[in-house]
Amino acid sequence: MNDSVRSAINDQINREFYAAYLYLAMAAHFDEEALAGFSGWMKLQAQEELGHAMRLYGYLLERGARVELQTIEAPPVKFGSPLSIAEQALEHERQVTKSINSIYALANKEGDYATQVQLQWFVTEQVEEEHTAEGMVERLRMAGDNRAALLILDREVASRSSAG
Ligand code: FEO
Repeated sequence: MNDSVRSAINDQINREFYAAYLYLAMAAHFDEEALAGFSGWMKLQAQEELGHAMRLYGYLLERGARVELQTIEAPPVKFGSPLSIAEQALEHERQVTKSINSIYALANKEGDYATQVQLQWFVTEQVEEEHTAEGMVERLRMAGDNRAALLILDREVASRSSAG
């Protein structure tokens, strides 16, 4: 495997682990706020991110390319309102999409077809991840400062998370 592609995938593994950390930090914040539904949703997101990291890890190994794990940056400890958290999650997903796209472009430039095929799964996944985060931002915008609406949303998210 081309060195620049390998290095870009290793960087992406780190980003996926960071995303898991970020979502887990958000989950902890929601737990503190007694919003168990949102917390459960973020914990599921964190698990998905670990799955993304492991998918790339497995891919590098399959290609006989070295996995080089890097330091995972600490996520923020404090967060704002549920709406601002959902906005941050959406922004984060948009950044991940950009980085997947840039690795795809690099693999294309290097003629690495296998990596392009592997990344297609991620391209599709990012469409779904952004869509989910956008939906959450919209609903939280509608709830506004209404605490009762927020609690209803929290319960709704809880039932969706447990339904998988
Ligand atoms: Fe691994 Fe949420 O993108």
